[in-house]
Amino acid sequence: MLKEIKASELNTDKFIAEKVNEIMSAVGNGTAINALSGGVDSSVVTMLGHRALGKKLRTVFIQNGLMREGEPEAVKDIFSKLGVAVEIIDSKKDFLDALSGITDPEEKREAITQTFYKKVFGRLVRESGAKFLLQGTILTDVDETVAGIKRQHNVFEQLGIDPQEAFGYRILEPLIQLRKDGVRLTGRALGLPEDMFNRIPFPGPALAARIIGEVNEEKLEIVRKATSVVERMLANRGAFQYMAILHDDRVTGMRDGKRDFGRQIEVRCWDSVDARTASPTNLPFEVLEKLSASILKEVPGVVSVTYNIATKPPSTIEAV
Ligand code: XMP
Repeated sequence: MLKEIKASELNTDKFIAEKVNEIMSAVGNGTAINALSGGVDSSVVTMLGHRALGKKLRTVFIQNGLMREGEPEAVKDIFSKLGVAVEIIDSKKDFLDALSGITDPEEKREAITQTFYKKVFGRLVRESGAKFLLQGTILTDVDETVAGIKRQHNVFEQLGIDPQEAFGYRILEPLIQLRKDGVRLTGRALGLPEDMFNRIPFPGPALAARIIGEVNEEKLEIVRKATSVVERMLANRGAFQYMAILHDDRVTGMRDGKRDFGRQIEVRCWDSVDARTASPTNLPFEVLEKLSASILKEVPGVVSVTYNIATKPPSTIEAV
């Protein structure tokens, strides 16, 4: 049973010193690989790993084709200013091939997990001789997976899967006793810029968690554009997380005087402390109107925009 460290009880200096020591003694004279996605958790792990291992840590950003607009380059840039070199690995084809034809949410998550850990990291680990992968699993990921709500892409040991046997390397998870609020405090103490440690959460399966039905390049392009609009227009509202979801079914609309059987975007904007429960942000109607107008203007093919007003539970934050 993992012992939770609540944000209110967290002594960040002591926590950082302990985790740096644990990473140093586990890796010893070897090397480790670190998967940075630009999300809060993997950014904090990157800083911890860098402090513990310096040049013995290889930090990679997997371009899986499911990322937000400009994300790999922006993340590389931010970390280079912090003295951490980030390698971008182009694995887009691996992921899109693995997702092709799959519509079931759990099968999509499984395809992403296998491609990420077995195919892409298996190869990187074999090539580099690293024995460890550092990753930012947090307690909420474990809870929801063990409860059978949603198989989070990064949880193994609690499901009885031994990563050494399944993938050929060990996984180090220094943040596993924390929730998002504790991770943010740790990020601040490690010197991450505020727009990184206070960034809205972004899931491991990335935009694939926001596409209902099959994930393909055409749908990714739509949800990527809609995500940019939503993130731009809902920043500074104080919400925990906000996103665009692309529905699978189409609805009748009209464009240039003709029928247009078009796409539907659902906007979600959540108030939450730790993602375990959440409620929709009470956004002014004018904000919703402007948001809808911008999505309809900037995202080709969309004829319907809705705002989700359900709570978690029974909803979950992501749609897949
Ligand atoms: P849900 O959708 O389960 O999300 O209510 C709770 C929080 O976790 C994020 N999330 C994930 N994070 N891997 C992750 O690293 C995943 O597979 C995953 N699925 C959801 C979600 O964005 C929210 O902040």
